[in-house]
Amino acid sequence: MKRSLNIAHRGFSGRYPENTMLAFRKAVEAGCDGIETDLHMTKDGVIVICHDETIERTTNGRGFIYDYSYEELCKFDAGIKFDEEFRGEKIPSIDEFLEYVKDKNLLINLELKNDVIHYEKLEKKVIEKIYEFKLKKNVIISSFNHYSMVRVKEYDDKIKTGLLCLATLYNVHDYVKTVGADAVHPFFLSMMDKKVVECIKKNEIRINAYTVNEEKDMKKLIDLGIDGIITNYPDKLKKILTSL
Ligand code: G3P
Ligand code: MG
Repeated sequence: MKRSLNIAHRGFSGRYPENTMLAFRKAVEAGCDGIETDLHMTKDGVIVICHDETIERTTNGRGFIYDYSYEELCKFDAGIKFDEEFRGEKIPSIDEFLEYVKDKNLLINLELKNDVIHYEKLEKKVIEKIYEFKLKKNVIISSFNHYSMVRVKEYDDKIKTGLLCLATLYNVHDYVKTVGADAVHPFFLSMMDKKVVECIKKNEIRINAYTVNEEKDMKKLIDLGIDGIITNYPDKLKKILTSL
């Protein structure tokens, strides 16, 4: 029986404020196999968890993450924009997140948000954190910036990397090999073709598709043998996987 991994996108972000410790705890409670989350860097070099480059969509603050020190960022509320009942959630640091997941045997997908902004030595700093928390076997680093994925391999070729893609790339297996990555992380609708999936898998490249929220799409991707399904609803996916 085919079994795809259930990877919670920004935590259990369908029901809780994305990329908060609450969303990560709830994803684990929902029975996810892994967590995907997004990384940026503050003015004082602290790696923090947030999707956007700026904080206005998800917090009560404004402006770019790189303009704030970590201490300043901590003053903003990362829960109330989602719902008043979640008041009090903060933008987590990578330390807080890795400390929480370190003994849980989860797949940790750290997405470097460096396709718009260049954060000096982000790859090196993230890798050092992975060593510090002894999570090398659990982590896959991904990004839409594929030069960054090459830099990760230059620091440590044993750390797994995934190439995020929105476009339907031709002969993606060749491209993934050119970059030296371990996986492709495609927008899920670009990965619905059986022959393409088979070819990628034959080349021993893993496929973790994002962001899959409808049951019919989850089922189709499981059927195709996709390795990981990145979803805002790990509860829904868990139910499907348990019923197989
Ligand atoms: O890593 C999968 C997915 O998170 C990529 O897009 O914009 O949701 O970070 P985005
Ligand atoms: Mg992401």
